[in-house]
Amino acid sequence: MRIEIPLLCLLLSLPAQAAGDPKLGKPLHDKQCVACHVKSQGGDGSGMYTRKPRLINNAVALGQRVATCSAQTNAGWFPEDEANVAAWLNQTYYKFK
Ligand code: HEC
Repeated sequence: MRIEIPLLCLLLSLPAQAAGDPKLGKPLHDKQCVACHVKSQGGDGSGMYTRKPRLINNAVALGQRVATCSAQTNAGWFPEDEANVAAWLNQTYYKFK
């Protein structure tokens, strides 16, 4: 069936998207996420990601948290935006494999 081919492509492309691009994620994060974390953590807000114990302990949880937060803030992000932000947070703070 023809319809299966695009579906398969979509599924196969998901892991690549999930990797995200940190360079694209940083400006999104600066715009939508930093202010509120600064309010609760002080400084540049990065304490939210470096505090002990942290809420987030693996890459999957990080992706889910970014998705939940972006939904709550009505950021209007696409899944690839969320993946980019998660990638930036991971590269900069979490360093999950
Ligand atoms: C309205 C305020 C607010 C906004 C806006 C916000 N956050 Fe948060 N965020 C919080 C609070 C509060 C916590 C801590 C939750 C807890 O301790 O249960 C948190 C925690 C987190 C954590 C987990 C930190 C840890 O302990 O490892 C991540 C990741 C995160 N936020 C990402 C984001 C992203 C990405 C955005 C932007 C889409 C965002 N947040 C926007 C308030 C906010």
